[in-house]
Amino acid sequence: NGTAQVNEKGHLQIGGVDTLDLVSQFGTPLYVYDVALIRERARGFKETFDKLGVKAQVAYASKAFSTIAMVQLVEEEGLSLDVVSAGELYTALAADFPVERIHFHGNNKSREELEMALEKGIGCIVVDNSYELQLLERICGEKKQKANILLRVTPGIEAHTHDYILTGQEDSKFGFDLQNGQAEAALQNALNSQAFEVLGIHCHIGSQIFETTGFILAAQKIFEKLNEWKQRLSFEPAVLNLGGGFGIRYTNEDEPIAASQYVEDIITEVKNLAQHYNMKMPEIWIEPGRSLVGDAGTTLYKIGSRKEVPEVRKYLAVDGGMSDNIRPALYQAKYEAVLAGRPLEKANEVVSIAGKCCESGDMLIWDLPLPESDDNDVLAVFCTGAYGYSMANNYNRLPRPPVVFVENGEAQLVVRRETLDDLIRLDLSIQTKIKN
Ligand code: LLP
Repeated sequence: NGTAQVNEKGHLQIGGVDTLDLVSQFGTPLYVYDVALIRERARGFKETFDKLGVKAQVAYASKAFSTIAMVQLVEEEGLSLDVVSAGELYTALAADFPVERIHFHGNNKSREELEMALEKGIGCIVVDNSYELQLLERICGEKKQKANILLRVTPGIEAHTHDYILTGQEDSKFGFDLQNGQAEAALQNALNSQAFEVLGIHCHIGSQIFETTGFILAAQKIFEKLNEWKQRLSFEPAVLNLGGGFGIRYTNEDEPIAASQYVEDIITEVKNLAQHYNMKMPEIWIEPGRSLVGDAGTTLYKIGSRKEVPEVRKYLAVDGGMSDNIRPALYQAKYEAVLAGRPLEKANEVVSIAGKCCESGDMLIWDLPLPESDDNDVLAVFCTGAYGYSMANNYNRLPRPPVVFVENGEAQLVVRRETLDDLIRLDLSIQTKIKN
């Protein structure tokens, strides 16, 4: 995958750097990102839009992995950026990301967050609900500012990775319901208000999706409504944002299609729909998170204790776990892994990889075939680039691992390892009561 290879020493090498050297230099656990692969993924999306001659913005959904260095990389590749909180926005601003290419998401943006977005002049706010629409209108009034907005709609399609459920009444905390008049009412209010420039419509149907069917269904549902709104409200969107959710291969069980295929299928459908309803082709925005960074990330752990439950299972514990990758515990997510020092050696046992958190559910991989290992070995878990570091936590007061970017044989630290002092940095001692 990407620039991951086996070098002349027989070690796993990423971006031209020996992973065991990374471990000597930066310790474990360690997140390693293959920068060339992120660039390749970013260019893949952009080039497909260019090839199809469609005006587009590819906005990286920074919730997948938000750090200053990552945002800088996104800027180098000319993508836009989706943020969902003051924290992600602050990270983007700290990285000097061009504000006009920042899109602000979220189903409960606070007044402070909306004010921050307006003050910084960010490109677009994706309005999620009528509470937010009213709040934003008030704030725009106070600041005598106009906001560029998209309205997020729930098209009544739920993507359950492989199959799609069409529901009349979508039960989701996100967005204006497209079918029951909610979206139309919101659009009407927004169009009537001085506060807004309504750029268009947004929808996001789910994550880790392996087919284009759901996107196509969503586009069809939206265009049916757009056709009505064109007549009733004289509204035609300049922008149609179809969200993210493009799936990646975590294990051999996953069969995603190429990113370019998602884009081509979506564009073909939208072009047909625009033509069918005699509307102008909107600019297409997408918001990939996982598919830009997921397979570019690898986590390196040191193997520690081993426990055998005779005739049942061998547990191998590593020096991280659900604190740096909560996805197996949260979603039963599956991963593949190798010994970084001898990735090609034949497996001769089946082990289950346990984390070090005090929780039975802290298991990273069940039933992994591996060569017999000892406590000098380093385990490399693949495809941890999305929602790994970003969902990391300090359960059991484990310090979060550092992040290293590798490219062209060079490694650079982009997030330093949390220290024990970092862990208590926000703590305050209790005030001793004065006895009299
Ligand atoms: N746009 C919106 C509005 C979203 O809500 C999301 C993800 C994305 C884009 C990016 O989706 P992606 O391309 O990364 O699938 N923590 C979960 C995933 C949660 C996704 C939330 N929204 C996981 O680890 O699988």
